[in-house]
Amino acid sequence: MQILGIETSCDDTSVAIYDDHTGLVCCLTKSQSKIHSQYGGVVPEIAARLHLKNIFFLLKSLFKNSNVYKKDICAVAYTVGPGLSGSLLVGASVANSLAYLWKIPVVFVNHMEAHLFSYMLNKKCFDKPKFPLLSLLVSGGHTQIVVSKSLGKYHVLGNCLDDSAGEVIDKVANMLGLQYPGGAKLSKLASLGKLGAFKFPRPMINSNDFNFSFSGLKTHVSRIILKNNINSLETRANVARELENSIVSVLVDKCFKAMKFTKLSNLVISGGVSANHLLRKTFRNMSKNIVNCKIFFTNRTFCTDNAAMIAYLGMLYFKNGFFSSSKIFFSSKLSISNNIYLNNF
Ligand code: KG4
Ligand code: ZN
Repeated sequence: MQILGIETSCDDTSVAIYDDHTGLVCCLTKSQSKIHSQYGGVVPEIAARLHLKNIFFLLKSLFKNSNVYKKDICAVAYTVGPGLSGSLLVGASVANSLAYLWKIPVVFVNHMEAHLFSYMLNKKCFDKPKFPLLSLLVSGGHTQIVVSKSLGKYHVLGNCLDDSAGEVIDKVANMLGLQYPGGAKLSKLASLGKLGAFKFPRPMINSNDFNFSFSGLKTHVSRIILKNNINSLETRANVARELENSIVSVLVDKCFKAMKFTKLSNLVISGGVSANHLLRKTFRNMSKNIVNCKIFFTNRTFCTDNAAMIAYLGMLYFKNGFFSSSKIFFSSKLSISNNIYLNNF
């Protein structure tokens, strides 16, 4: 049994086919970042238009490359939110049109929930996640600590009160002359820097909750950049290094406190920022000091937005009997704790 997955929540157009016996068959993604980088970030109107331009070409190539026939597809899974309305609408329209034509159901997939389970794509064949889990979802739009009791049942233990970690990384990268999206480029620059040249704050590290706030850090770093000569590569690298250090310290500290608080020993780390080398290294080192602690990282290929994670989670829901007849549905502010199936149908 195979499912088609469609992801268009932000600026990556992605399509994938997932097989419940053999695992991921094929995933094709077309990034729009080159276009948006001219504007320093994603322009929603342009993103929607580019999804429309790219998606049919990607679907055609997907079926050609995978040797899968349309008649073998059991359902179309697509991202219903959170994301940009115009972008989501393109995915919703295409997915529902295909499902209607092929007379198969659609599966609504929450983008953040798909990130949460993207570590399951590391496996060769279809397997079910083991609950309960604690997760750190750290992406361009979100920084959250989530407790998962079972499929579809989530409690957001900690949330971002303002800018997400990825957003701050992208903004500071831009101030340092790096093009959007700046995460991977900033990380490369940071590897040339020295620790100790700057000392940035660790926002909310001692707060008595699991929330995050990174906008003050962004303001602090922007002042440092204005005061110092960032024409020098050494200074830019030192700023990048300390920014990474500050963000990673807060994320790691809060996650281990959350593990202690919830007594959960399985920690999943996912979302675009989880591709970061320092973050992975620090989590791995810290976990050695905690008995029974198991950390699950998503394969770096699937950390950023992709349809493979949508197809995987779509298959999981489909196999659990959660699907719908075609119906244009999307919700740009959808929360992971607001289960689409339990609350809307
Ligand atoms: O999950 P994602 O593709 O999109 C959202 O759902 O928001 O995450 C994108 C974010 C961007 O902010 C990007 O700069 C960041 O992930 N990112 C990284 C790295 N690779 C991508 N941040 C730090 N280090 C990286 N290696
Ligand atoms: Zn994402």
